[in-house]
Amino acid sequence: MEPGEIPIGMVGLGLMGSSITVCMLIAGHPVIGVEPVSENVANSLQRVRNYLDVAWQKGLVTEKPDAYLSRLTLSDDFDSLGPAKIVIESVKEDMDIKRQVFAKIDKVVSDDAILSSNTSAIPISDLQTFVSSPQRFFGLHWMQPAHTTRFLEIICGNQSDRDIADYLYQLAEKWDKEPVLVKKDIRGFIGNRLMYAMYREALHLVQEDYATVEDVDRACRNVAGYFIPMVGVFRWMDFTGIGAYHTVMKELFPTLSNAQEPNKLISEIVEEGGNGVFNGRGFYTYTEEERKLWEEAYSRFTYEIRELALKYPHDVVKKKLEQNEDLDLPEQTPYS
Ligand SMILES: NC(=O)c1ccc[n+]([C@@H]2O[C@H](COP(=O)([O-])OP(=O)(O)OC[C@H]3O[C@@H](n4cnc5c(N)ncnc54)[C@H](O)[C@@H]3O)[C@@H](O)[C@H]2O)c1
Repeated sequence: MEPGEIPIGMVGLGLMGSSITVCMLIAGHPVIGVEPVSENVANSLQRVRNYLDVAWQKGLVTEKPDAYLSRLTLSDDFDSLGPAKIVIESVKEDMDIKRQVFAKIDKVVSDDAILSSNTSAIPISDLQTFVSSPQRFFGLHWMQPAHTTRFLEIICGNQSDRDIADYLYQLAEKWDKEPVLVKKDIRGFIGNRLMYAMYREALHLVQEDYATVEDVDRACRNVAGYFIPMVGVFRWMDFTGIGAYHTVMKELFPTLSNAQEPNKLISEIVEEGGNGVFNGRGFYTYTEEERKLWEEAYSRFTYEIRELALKYPHDVVKKKLEQNEDLDLPEQTPYS
């Protein structure tokens, strides 16, 4: 079935739900949007329109925003979800709110609908107990803004049907994603577990006065930043000498932070009301002008890194072998 024949139910059009909606519209799905908080409906529609406007300006889409918006209905009415074949929930990260929302969804969707949650941290095995067909329930974990990022985790809970997960995995390619299947439920899934291991070590290095915040960021940008979008973690080790990693791991692993609590560095910022670029006080401080310029520069960067990542998809070499595609690669590489 093509996306045009698969209506998506989108529940909760906050920051993430709006960009997931845009991703679905761009992929060709009709979208039935339900914003449970009535007073937020107008804002949600405006946010979707803004995302589409920028996508049009940046040349990310081929049609003007109105063409996509014509496939969207948006209201606060859960009954409208009846025709949805896949429902994506993205309401506030609160177990009780999600429980109430899934009870309403479960009442109105058909037996063959696939249900999913964009939860960041609630175990899928817990959420799937809220619905009558837990085997049709999955985590679909996106990265903001969902219509430009390539990340999507498809997470199986204890009762999820693996065949349906495989179907979502294939469909996600049509959403312009490089999907990731989490075969067994684990807190934080894959992306967050990798990232939090790094946040913990970064906090430790600064807290213990080994380096400044600026220098930890510089190291990260110029080490991981130069290879991760292309080769990830394992292929990087393949490229650079597995034996050496094995040796270093024996010495280094025992010295890495295994802190069980957030450390003083981040706790103090939170206790003092710091909220990073949102209020100018975080690990760095920002004037209003700097804050805006950082946000603008980062937004521009997300479009540029996307262009580069699209040039080097996960199957870049397979494609070259199959189609003899000219990848326009430099003759001399740092590893040749
Ligand atoms: N922001 C991110 O980068 C990000 C990334 C991945 C996953 N998530 C997850 O996506 C979900 C939504 O996050 P967000 O960042 O879009 O938050 P948000 O605050 O922008 O949106 C929250 C949504 O929940 C709705 N809501 C609030 N109270 C409600 C209630 N009592 N009943 C029903 N709906 C209610 C809001 O109207 C809105 O649609 C969360 O589960 C979050 O953990 C967020």
